[in-house]
Amino acid sequence: MALKKYLSWKNILPNCIKTKYSSSGPKVHATKQSPSQRLSLSDISHPGSSLSLSDLSNSLISLHIFALKELEVITHKFSKSNFLGEGGFGPVYKGFIDDNLRPGLKAQPVAVKVLDLDGTQGHREWLAEVIFLGQLKHPHLVNLIGYCYEEDHRLLVYEYMERGNLENQLFKRYGPSLPWLTRLKIAIGTAKGLAFLHEEEKPVIYRDFKTSNILLDLAYKAKVSDFGLATDGPEGEETHVTTCVMGTEGYAAPEYITTGHLTTMSDVFSFGVVLLELLTGRRSVDKTRPGREKNLVEWARPLLKDPYKLDGIMDPRLEGQYSTEGARKTAALAYQCLSNHPKSRPTMSNVVKALEPLLSLTDIPVGPFVYIVPTQGNNQPIVQKIEEREEKELKIEKNGGGKEEKKEKSRLPRQKGRRHRRRVKPSRSRAVYSDTDLYKTLGSSLYSPKQ
Ligand SMILES: Nc1ncnc2c1ncn2[C@@H]1O[C@H](COP(=O)(O)OP(=O)(O)O)[C@@H](O)[C@H]1O
Ligand SMILES: [Mg+2]
Repeated sequence: MALKKYLSWKNILPNCIKTKYSSSGPKVHATKQSPSQRLSLSDISHPGSSLSLSDLSNSLISLHIFALKELEVITHKFSKSNFLGEGGFGPVYKGFIDDNLRPGLKAQPVAVKVLDLDGTQGHREWLAEVIFLGQLKHPHLVNLIGYCYEEDHRLLVYEYMERGNLENQLFKRYGPSLPWLTRLKIAIGTAKGLAFLHEEEKPVIYRDFKTSNILLDLAYKAKVSDFGLATDGPEGEETHVTTCVMGTEGYAAPEYITTGHLTTMSDVFSFGVVLLELLTGRRSVDKTRPGREKNLVEWARPLLKDPYKLDGIMDPRLEGQYSTEGARKTAALAYQCLSNHPKSRPTMSNVVKALEPLLSLTDIPVGPFVYIVPTQGNNQPIVQKIEEREEKELKIEKNGGGKEEKKEKSRLPRQKGRRHRRRVKPSRSRAVYSDTDLYKTLGSSLYSPKQ
C-alpha cells in the first residue's frame, strides 16, 4: 500500500482532517457500547450501531449538554473582555456558571471554546475532544464539563485554568519568571498526563504536545488540554498508526514527519522539546534567532550532554537558581526523548520516574533577596541586595571556617559565575521571586509530586 505523506501542518491541512472523519450530522456511530469499555474515535467511523450524542452523554460520558443561549449568557455574549486565547480551533472565552444553571452543576468559572466555522479544524476535532476528554479523567488532563451541538455550532466547556497556558507564562517578557521547581513540577504533571494516555488499554496518542496546550491552575498545577488532534494509538500486534502529518512545527517527531508513522514515542519527542523549552527559556522555533539557533532542538541537542556547556544554554531568567544536578539529569532525559530513533526514547512513565526525584534535590542556590524601593521625587529606584549566602560565607571565612563551612558548601556548591550576581536592572516590572516565595504564597501544592 502506498504510503501517504502529508508534510504540512494542521493549520494548512483542512482536507486531511476532514477525509478521515466525516462531519455528516449529529449521529455518532459506535460498535462498542459496553459501559466498561472506552469508546474510541475509530469506533465512531465504523458502520455499526448508531448512537446520538445525547445518548452518548447519558451512557458513556458524564458531560453536560449546553444550549447555545446558555453559553451566550455565561460569557456575556462572547464579549471581548472575556477572551482567553485562540489556537487553530477557534476563540476561547471565560464564562461563569452559577448555581441555577443546571442541577448538579456547581457554580464555577469555565472556559468556552467556540469552533470557528471558517477555521481549518472542524467537526472531527470537536468530536475528538468530546470522545477523549469526555471519558478520560485524570488530575493532569483538563476537565471537560460539557459541550454544545446546535445546528452548525460546536462548542466545548472546560474547567477554567487561572494561569492560562504555559507558553505565555514561560515566554512572557515582564514579571517574574517561572522558578526551577515550578518548571519541574509542570514537566512532571504533564508527563503523568501523557503516561496515563499511553497506558490506557486502548492507547491514546495526543499528537499536539506543546506549551500552548498545557494549562496551569492557580497553584501552577499543569494539565494537558486541546485534544483536537488526539487519536487512537496502535493496538495488539500493530506497531504504529499511519496518519496525515498534523501537529506543530518544531514539536513533531522526525519519523512522523517523514513517514506519517505515529506511535506513543512521537509524543515523547514532543515532550522532549517542551522539556528543552523549560530548561532554556527559548521557543521551539524562533525565526528571529540566527542560523542553527532558529530550531531549538537542532541548536541545543549537541550541548545537552556536556555539563560544561549546559550552564550556557540554561534560561538566563533563572538567574542561576536551579539545581545543577537536577538540570543535568533533566538535560540528559531531554536528550533521550529527542533521540532520532523512537525505540531509544523512554516511555512517559519512565520519564515520570526520572523526573520525580529531582524535586527533592537541595543544591539550589539561595537567591539574592531583591527589594526595589522607588525613591520619592526621583525616578531612579534604589536596589538593595541582601545576599544571605555570601554574607554567611564571609562570616565563616572570618571565623576561620570549620564544620559549618563544609556543610554549607556541600549544600550549595559553587557554580561558574554565580558568585558575581548580575546587577538587577531597575526595569519596570522586573522582579526576582524564588521558589520559596511562591511556596509561601501557594503552599505545598506547588511542588507536590503526588499530583
Ligand atoms: N480551560 C481553559 N482555561 C483557561 N484558558 C484556556 C482554557 N482552554 C483554553 N484556554 C486558552 O485558549 C487557548 C487556546 O485553547 P486551545 O484549547 O489550545 O485551542 P485550539 O484548539 O484552538 O488550539 C489556550 O492556549 C489558552 O490560552
Ligand atoms: Mg491549542
